[in-house]
Amino acid sequence: MPRLGRISYVPSPLLARVGTYPFVRLEEARRRVQARGVHVVDMGVGDPRERADPRIERALVEAVPHASGYPPAQGLPELRSAVARWVGRRFASELDPDREVIPTLGAKEAIFSLAQALLDRDGGRTLVAYTEPGYPVYERGALFAGGEPLALPLLEENAFLPDLDGVDWESVALLWLNYPNNPTGAVAPLAFLEQAAGLARAHGFVLAADEAYTELWFEAPPASVLQLVDRTNVLAFHSLSKRSSMTGYRSGFVAGDAELVAALRAFRPTVGTAPQEFVQRAAVAAWDDEEHVERNRALYAEKRAIIVDALVRRGVRVAGSTATIYLWVEVPGSEPSEAFAARLLERGVVVSPGSYFGPSGEGYVRIALTPPVEECRRAAALLEDAL
Ligand SMILES: Cc1ncc(COP(=O)(O)O)c(C=O)c1O
Repeated sequence: MPRLGRISYVPSPLLARVGTYPFVRLEEARRRVQARGVHVVDMGVGDPRERADPRIERALVEAVPHASGYPPAQGLPELRSAVARWVGRRFASELDPDREVIPTLGAKEAIFSLAQALLDRDGGRTLVAYTEPGYPVYERGALFAGGEPLALPLLEENAFLPDLDGVDWESVALLWLNYPNNPTGAVAPLAFLEQAAGLARAHGFVLAADEAYTELWFEAPPASVLQLVDRTNVLAFHSLSKRSSMTGYRSGFVAGDAELVAALRAFRPTVGTAPQEFVQRAAVAAWDDEEHVERNRALYAEKRAIIVDALVRRGVRVAGSTATIYLWVEVPGSEPSEAFAARLLERGVVVSPGSYFGPSGEGYVRIALTPPVEECRRAAALLEDAL
């Protein structure tokens, strides 16, 4: 039999354009230092290390025997109702669980694929605006959907809010906002969200609000686009990953404008991203309980105080961070953020260089408050030594 040769193919040039996902590089650097025997405290990636609440784990396990069929793409009605109840309690707003909510496999896949579901490339509106420094998935989702990314810088002098006045909105199809913000930890007032939603309606684009961090705050509960009286052209993306330390479960939801949710209901069965039924049952338990979220918030506040105290003692300035699980810290002197992060890694603390999140992140590093309290104490001592 003739041997078949290797099929030649050309991968999408976009893979080369977007490069290695920044956190993969950070992980590789951490492994190299650990291989030398250095004990490393990883404050790089925003992956909570706490266990999910026992009630959530139990709900998952009890649902396993009933979960051999395909999960419905529109999610279980019980989960959509639990989400609507939670939004009602948390944001005092009413959602129709059948028309305005759709469960997702975490927020990330829904964020990545939104542009695919909504962009009309022949209609002439292909710009996807997003803020930078920021979560890399808005830009990547735009590119893989054939859209054109438009980065709006977040500057400290503007409280890490984008300038909405300097944009030609007529060519924008989609605007991503992310408050509380990763990586700056900034929050946006409701009036700002209202202004953005007003622009979306006036100019016919979609406002997509990534609200994965609304539940982890240090001062006051942050606002949501779900509080807006008029949610036309508006979608909110929520997640259990950070709120309930459930990154491994993959569970979130999209809610908002019923017509946009209908478009997602039409799009998503093709993609195959319906969460497993046992995860959806666990998610019902998670959205129905607020006690474990309060405990999580208290824990992050404790870890935050440990690290902030160490930085303050060394005269290092925390630039943002009134919410989220991150500290956005100014790099002392004029050292590039990647060199500063490399220096801290050599001393045993992984932090993310601000430049990983976009050019406006240069001059900062992001510290994720994810290790357990004891490890944070260790990191604080190492930081004090290194700074
Ligand atoms: C801003 C932001 N949005 C969304 C996500 C994705 O969360 P999920 O785990 O729900 O996919 C993350 C995860 O780090 C994030 O930082």
